[in-house]
Amino acid sequence: MPDSRETSVRRAFVTGFPVKHSRSPLIHGHWLETLRIPGSYTREEVAPENFAGFMEALKSGESGFCGGNVTIPHKEAAFRLADRPDALSEELGAANTLWREEGCVHATNTDGRGFLANLDAGAPGWDTVGSAVILGAGGASRAIIQAVRDRGVGEIHVVNRTVARAQELADRFGPRIHAHPMEALAEVSKGAGLFVNTTSLGMDGKTAPDFDFSPLGPGAVVTDIVYVPLVTSILKQAAEQGFATVDGLGMLLHQAVPGFEKWFGVRPVVDEALRRLILADMEAH
Ligand code: ATR
Repeated sequence: MPDSRETSVRRAFVTGFPVKHSRSPLIHGHWLETLRIPGSYTREEVAPENFAGFMEALKSGESGFCGGNVTIPHKEAAFRLADRPDALSEELGAANTLWREEGCVHATNTDGRGFLANLDAGAPGWDTVGSAVILGAGGASRAIIQAVRDRGVGEIHVVNRTVARAQELADRFGPRIHAHPMEALAEVSKGAGLFVNTTSLGMDGKTAPDFDFSPLGPGAVVTDIVYVPLVTSILKQAAEQGFATVDGLGMLLHQAVPGFEKWFGVRPVVDEALRRLILADMEAH
């Protein structure tokens, strides 16, 4: 008789509150189907007051899940309640990916890896730059600062409307990170090889203010983590000014790769078919 655990279907989740907007089930569902893996990936809406219980049931095995993704507002609690958070999630204080191993819940954060893989695919060689400018100092900015720093970019300028928030991140992520107010944008952009928008400017088709990218270095890459619309006002302006651009959809797709591999044992590929699937869903909603 084979062990029942070997024959059972592996089940993963995305949890959030609310969670109905999450496109992760579409991504993992596509991989499960195309790789012919008999697993499942479902949305689990969990209210904040029930999240500790959800983690307990994951730990004990009672819920039957082998792991899953965590989105707003549970990322910090997921990190705190996990048995084995890795160094990346430890520094961020937040986790978006959990997996169960020998009765322990492990946690990591894959946003930074997703961000890097998207740039590697869309602008190979982008990382041979001396400095980068990151606009915004909210939750989304942290994983990107960490990833760009760990890739070896020398100086990282975090520019934010509320400079105190940028300063908090500079203090957290080390001496190569510098905090600036918006007025310093042109100055700190001089010669930079990467410009990242992590703010909501231009989201949902709203017009962002005019940006002058001309101080950036020759061959600089401009990217936006907003992917609705796919070509944001910031990307459109950068392209019109002759800079290479990378849209944010690939970050969403690539950040899903490590979780899928942990839960289902196969490293999936981000390809054009997956991208088209998500784009079609974006058009339909
Ligand atoms: P997230 O977790 O998605 O990053 P957030 O924590 O609300 O969201 O952060 C949003 C970011 O967009 C912040 O950097 C915010 O600047 P403040 O820290 O000054 O609030 C920035 N942002 C939002 N609207 C903005 C605007 N109209 N102009 C400039 N920056 C803006």
